[in-house]
Amino acid sequence: MNKNKKKIITVASNKGGTGKTTVSLCLALYFSYKKNKKTLLMEMDSSPGDFSVLFNVNNENSIEIALKFPSKLCSFVKNIGNNLDIIKGFSNPLFAEEAKSDEINDLINIALKNYEIIIIDTQNVLNGLIIDVLKITDYVFLISELEVESLYRNMEFINLLKNKFLLHHDNFYFLINKKRLIDIFKIIDISRIITLPILGFISFERNFNKSLVLNNKSRFLKTKTFTSISKILENFYLNNIA
Ligand SMILES: Nc1ncnc2c1ncn2[C@@H]1O[C@H](COP(=O)(O)OP(=O)(O)OP(=O)(O)O)[C@@H](O)[C@H]1O
Ligand SMILES: [Mg+2]
Repeated sequence: MNKNKKKIITVASNKGGTGKTTVSLCLALYFSYKKNKKTLLMEMDSSPGDFSVLFNVNNENSIEIALKFPSKLCSFVKNIGNNLDIIKGFSNPLFAEEAKSDEINDLINIALKNYEIIIIDTQNVLNGLIIDVLKITDYVFLISELEVESLYRNMEFINLLKNKFLLHHDNFYFLINKKRLIDIFKIIDISRIITLPILGFISFERNFNKSLVLNNKSRFLKTKTFTSISKILENFYLNNIA
């Protein structure tokens, strides 16, 4: 099944703080650690994103510089485990605005030559760069909380991408994050709002701390958030990636 096909998964949401970075980290660790795939985790967030702090990197490990010298991508990434490299986003939103479509396409093409899986963490404010990335993405994971507002905003986001940027949405999947026990009734309601496939629900985990990803990876891999995302991904992996 799709043996040699490279895969790009973009993690998006029309709302801040829903868990895009958390899910991106989990996806990257799942594919690299659990499935032994050579994985690149890219940050397309200039709002600013949090890779600088999470991975203790600066502009030498950034997309900003890699866009200028795409063929040297491998020297700008930081390895954070056997199969997992990361690269941080832009230090300034204005630089992200200036990035050209062919620059980003060149960079992704080089990445596709060097990695089996590319995970792209995005910001909730759309820009040209993210539109370019969405156009060449194999799968889009939309992260939403179990709130009507969050769900509606994501549906609006999909309509905007479809109507204004002509992006088809048959590769969009919802992941509902931070589910609490009392949300059980809302799950019935959301089927009225969401017309796209829901990959799964991730429970709210008290004390979840994404910075474990650098300092204590084995603890990160044991978090409820990581283990539940891993379970959700198993079928997706078998049907689409393996
Ligand atoms: N399943 C979860 N359980 C508990 N807390 C979570 C869960 N997922 C994410 N969080 C917490 O929610 C906060 C926001 O998560 P995260 O940074 O991943 O969201 P984001 O969508 O990337 O935010 P931004 O829009 O700022 O980029 C963080 O404090 C994170 O630890
Ligand atoms: Mg984020």
